[in-house]
Amino acid sequence: MEYNIAIIPGDGIGPEVTAQAKKALDAIADDFGHQFTYTNALMGACAIDETGNPLPDETINVCEKADAILFGAIGHPKYDNDPTAKVRPEQGLLKLRKSLGLFCNVRPVKAYEQLIENSPLKRDIISGADMSIYRELTGGIYFGEKKLSDDGKVASDGCSYSEEEITRIAHLAFKEAQTRRKKVTLVDKANVLETSRLWRRVVTEIATNYKDVTLDFLFVDNAAMQMILNPKQFDVILTENLFGDIISDEASVIGGSIGLLASASVGIDNALFEPIHGSFPQATGKDIANPLASILSAAMLLRHLNLYKEADRIEEAVEKSLELGFTTSDINPENPFGTSKVGDFIADFILNPDDTNRNYENIYAGQSTII
Ligand code: IPM
Ligand code: MG
Repeated sequence: MEYNIAIIPGDGIGPEVTAQAKKALDAIADDFGHQFTYTNALMGACAIDETGNPLPDETINVCEKADAILFGAIGHPKYDNDPTAKVRPEQGLLKLRKSLGLFCNVRPVKAYEQLIENSPLKRDIISGADMSIYRELTGGIYFGEKKLSDDGKVASDGCSYSEEEITRIAHLAFKEAQTRRKKVTLVDKANVLETSRLWRRVVTEIATNYKDVTLDFLFVDNAAMQMILNPKQFDVILTENLFGDIISDEASVIGGSIGLLASASVGIDNALFEPIHGSFPQATGKDIANPLASILSAAMLLRHLNLYKEADRIEEAVEKSLELGFTTSDINPENPFGTSKVGDFIADFILNPDDTNRNYENIYAGQSTII
């Protein structure tokens, strides 16, 4: 099959990790007889440097035409430390999400058995934890009216949600729960916020269509605590934009490294796949960033294109790299491999998943994995 894939490498470590995900996709294309045509596009601080605009129109065009979008990372310290900056890299990503209508952000989190000791949380708390966070992505306080008084002393950000915005993501969350352990937890702040009370009412009504799924509710402050105390209780978490942003970074600790968490941002006509980690400026260009989250995002992209076997193959390759310790320093500080070497290993495994020919001495020497 033929597919058009837009690639937005973005800022910081984005280009390095995305290059490894592309190696994985190329290996899949080779082995399964597909043709992937890639079109690169600009977004973020690099786009501001080149064009003055964090999201050039051309990028939106490329994305609209693509079957799926692979994105790296966004952000640069020169903007983070300057609250007066009028143009910011992140505006590009937010505008892209809004322009393409990517309202549903899915962030799967699980404790990889091989990485349990990497997490600061105890083994018996996280072993077996497996959840999927459904974060609303184009509404709420991120997109409300922003105000700053003329004297610069008072600021506000509006938060609003409509029934329709809640309904469309809630259905997706319930459908996902039906394929999993059949539980949805709505995370909100309904004891304080009007928008949260609307979420509760709408989601409770929708739940009546999914009798096989249990719905429960948690206030976000309690949810943040439960995530650390007993993450195994969660199956599908459904939540609004800002709470989902916060709770998904917290949940990443369960996976042993934020460098492993992939995500999908899905709309009606388009979908974008990206690691949840940021641009990690300190690591840029050093060949030390963990490419696995980007590679796992490529697996989610393939599944979105209904290429299930292909997605499974990438995930097997990632499991294998974890099992062998063929990973970057965030996971394997004793004997780390470079970003690019990990990417080579994954591509190699995709092409040769049969273990019998693998030459482990060569692997550890960072050479070809095949005899
Ligand atoms: C994320 C990021 C973004 C967000 C930033 C970069 C705007 O933190 O995707 O979680 O807040 O949504
Ligand atoms: Mg975030």
